[in-house]
Amino acid sequence: MKDVKIYGPDILQANDFVESLKAAGRHICVIKTDGQFYATQPKCPHAGARLSEGWCENKKLVCPYHRYQYDLETGRGAVGQGDYITIYPVEIKPDGVYVKLPEAFGFIKKLFKI
Ligand code: FES
Repeated sequence: MKDVKIYGPDILQANDFVESLKAAGRHICVIKTDGQFYATQPKCPHAGARLSEGWCENKKLVCPYHRYQYDLETGRGAVGQGDYITIYPVEIKPDGVYVKLPEAFGFIKKLFKI
């Protein structure tokens, strides 16, 4: 995992949002709700909708297509959905907001001990 800066400190003053961005070559969905930041995989596991076009309700990310809901702390889908999304850890540091992302091609590095 590596820390990737996704916002400067000014973002702490921003209103709540759900948006898509690219960090270290990877698309992610970033959510700010009730002063907390979350980062998730970009697409819904149900049918591939862009989660950044969804919205938050009670710390759950709601998919815009069929309104499946995902817990922003655990990634778990609501009861009956039987699915989940990947949640990436987010940390607020003095100089901005960082997300921990898996190393790209980490499995290849491990395989070949690069
Ligand atoms: S595509 Fe997200 S709920 Fe169906």
